[in-house]
Amino acid sequence: MRVVVMVSGSGTNLQSIVDAVKAGQLPTEVVAVGADKPCQGIERAVAAGIETFLVQPADYQDRPAWNRALEEAIAAYRPDYIVFAGFMRIVDAQLVDRFAGRIINTHPALLPSFPGAHGVRDALAHGVKVTGLTVHLVDSGVDTGPILAQAAVDVLPDDTEETLHERIKLKERALLVKTIGQLEASPSNPQF
Ligand code: GRF
Repeated sequence: MRVVVMVSGSGTNLQSIVDAVKAGQLPTEVVAVGADKPCQGIERAVAAGIETFLVQPADYQDRPAWNRALEEAIAAYRPDYIVFAGFMRIVDAQLVDRFAGRIINTHPALLPSFPGAHGVRDALAHGVKVTGLTVHLVDSGVDTGPILAQAAVDVLPDDTEETLHERIKLKERALLVKTIGQLEASPSNPQF
């Protein structure tokens, strides 16, 4: 299965996929890693010998132009799946339709609670005692697509956004790898 991974940040979720592939735990080929800006995730991809590409919003006239450029950059790698692993951009409906049912996102909260860019901060501010993470398919809403897998994480009394997010990410990396493995094994795996 050919996978393109999109990142915006430190790329630890990407690293867990790369490590699992290397260890023979995933029959996946990470054919490229893309980002919306230079970031550590791109550096990790380079270190692993994976092709990389950048599609930066500032280089395009408007959001649709950026979306079309991103869509073409991804499509050029003919991926079976696209994994948004800490990719902090909202893509438009046309891009989602082009890869319908084949974009996977990981979100650091138990959706449908706390969607958006600050899932950990918002859960903490609300005072929940349990939060977690969600691996889901991307649809044209923000963090609204069909849920593939979830795991719970207890909120500790002295948690900060950082400490809570770190504990979430420990489970997130494992669940993302496991979910990709399950998609590969699934008979409904859409090939094209
Ligand atoms: C993850 O928790 C992801 O769900 C969130 O940002 C974090 C990215 O971490 N949107 P990394 O870049 O994979 O280390």
